[in-house]
Amino acid sequence: MRHIRARARDGFESVFGYRTDALWSAPGRVNLIGEHTDYNLGFVLPFAINRRTVAAVSLREDRIARVASAFADEIVEIDLTKISPDSVGGWAAYPFGVAWALGQHGADLLAVPGFDIFVESDVTVGAGLSSSAAIESAVALALNDLWGLELDRRTLAEVGRQAENEVVGAPTGIMDQSASLLGESDSAVFLDCRSLESRIVPLGLERDGLALLVIDTGITHAHATGGYADRRASCELGAKLLGVRSLREVAVDDLARAQVLMDDVTFRRVRHIVTENQRVLETVATLESIGARGIGGLLDASHLSMRDDFEISIPELNLAVETAVENGALGARMTGGGFGGAAIAMVSTGDLSRVQLAIDRAFFSQGFSRPDTFIVTAADGARRES
Ligand code: GLA
Repeated sequence: MRHIRARARDGFESVFGYRTDALWSAPGRVNLIGEHTDYNLGFVLPFAINRRTVAAVSLREDRIARVASAFADEIVEIDLTKISPDSVGGWAAYPFGVAWALGQHGADLLAVPGFDIFVESDVTVGAGLSSSAAIESAVALALNDLWGLELDRRTLAEVGRQAENEVVGAPTGIMDQSASLLGESDSAVFLDCRSLESRIVPLGLERDGLALLVIDTGITHAHATGGYADRRASCELGAKLLGVRSLREVAVDDLARAQVLMDDVTFRRVRHIVTENQRVLETVATLESIGARGIGGLLDASHLSMRDDFEISIPELNLAVETAVENGALGARMTGGGFGGAAIAMVSTGDLSRVQLAIDRAFFSQGFSRPDTFIVTAADGARRES
């Protein structure tokens, strides 16, 4: 953490030519369970991880906003008074999108001071760990503080989602920003995406001798295009055919009726969402009664549902999950939006090296590139660093 803070400070100075000591950070996230349920107004159970994005930020005396980062060469500059959803593209759409969305939540963009921001991150891009939500949340918290807006974290999550939907153009839900802003160490965030009420659920992984292994396939995805939007459209069609506002209103007992109302593909998309909501509720109940050792079967069932019903997994993710479970993981599933990215496996600490080695071997024998495997812990959400 000290490293990345120092890199953000140094990066800021070398790009903008002066120093700032004002730093904010926000974590990436892993979703424990509850996939594609957020935009269906259902339940999710993500946690913030110990990989963070740091934003070094300084206010200016004019209305100009400039952003730069360690992962892009240029400085992108904009006049805050003229900002609109169409005026920015590329990675700068994340920080500028947040500034624009804050304008939709009370910031007077004709009056607030401009800013310089330098972003550093150790959240891998495209791995399904929400690198974009980490940027949005760090910037949202920073500007909220510096502009004195006093918005609460739930509203800041909404700001991040709005930036992503309307400025970046990815039709994603509220899960990632909520995890990044509301996360707490060694705990998951249980979020009802309809009421937006949330509750912290302790994970107790270390106490139970468990670790969460991330297996990043290295295959990147982009949710602004393709499969993600297509799945969302299927869910909306399913809800329409069932005469409900969202699939949140559909219970497992309604599935038999749903099956006769729609084509097979739409039905399977609906079945994933409805059963996944149920699995999130069971996971929370199990964590609170038995503890994490009891949730392995729910993780496995979630993966099968994404593989067979929602069809968002890929061979590399399936291989990672199957190999982990065959070699002693208590449960495993792909995590995030799908079509690439990462899987997670819950493993007894004593079995970690066996599982990791088996995955490397399996990938090698299938001719897949070596995945990046690493342990994540549940960490605190966005905060001011200095
Ligand atoms: C991406 C989106 C989230 C959520 C997940 C799937 O991470 O950003 O809003 O829909 O996919 O669960």
